[in-house]
Amino acid sequence: MSKSHKSHPKSSAPAVNWPLIGGIIGLLVLVFIVVLAVGRRPVSTNPASTADLELGRQVYAQQCALCHGANLEGEENWREYNPDGTFRSPPHDDTGHTWHHGDGYLFERTKYGTAALPPESRTLSGMPAYEAILTDEEIWAVLAYIKSSWSAENQQIQAGITANEQ
Ligand code: HEC
Repeated sequence: MSKSHKSHPKSSAPAVNWPLIGGIIGLLVLVFIVVLAVGRRPVSTNPASTADLELGRQVYAQQCALCHGANLEGEENWREYNPDGTFRSPPHDDTGHTWHHGDGYLFERTKYGTAALPPESRTLSGMPAYEAILTDEEIWAVLAYIKSSWSAENQQIQAGITANEQ
C-alpha cells in the first residue's frame, strides 16, 4: 500500500495577485469618489459677490416679487390658506421659514417648483418651476439675494442646516 503524497500544486504560484487587487481597489475608490462628486447637488458660492446680489435683486423683482412681495414680505396673512385651500406665498425674509431650509432644498424648490413637493401637496402650491426660465446661476443669485436679507444669526443657522443637508 503506497501512501500517496499529497501535493500542493498551487502552492508554487502566488495565491493572490496583490498588485492587481490593489489596482482594482484603487480604481473602485476613484470611481466611488467621482460618482459622489457628480451626484452631489450643486453647491452655491457663499458668500455671494456683489454681482451675484445685483443679478439676484433683478431676478427677484422680475420673477418672485409678484407673489413673495417686493420686499420679501410675503403675501398678507400668508399663514392662512386661500379660500380654495391653496397655500399663500410665504415671506423670504427673516419673518418667513425660508431660512429654516438648506441651500439644496431652496434650490430645488425654485428650480422644480411643486414637483419638488410630496405628491399630496403639489396641487396646493402655486409655486412655479423656474427650470425653463432661469439658469442655475440665476437661481443661486436670487437665493443669495434672499439670504442677504437675513440676520447674521439666521444666516449662520441656515448655513448649518445646509451643511447637514446631504
Ligand atoms: C405665482 C406665485 C409665485 C411666484 C411668482 C414665486 N413663488 Fe415661490 N412660492 C409660492 C407659493 C404659493 C409658495 C408656498 C407653497 C410652497 O411651498 O410651494 C412658494 C414657496 C417658495 C419656496 C419654499 C419656501 C419654504 O419655506 O418652503 C421657495 C424657496 C420659493 N417659493 C422661491 C421662489 C423664488 C426664488 C421665486 C422667484 C424666482 C418664486 N418663489 C416665485 C408662489 C410663488
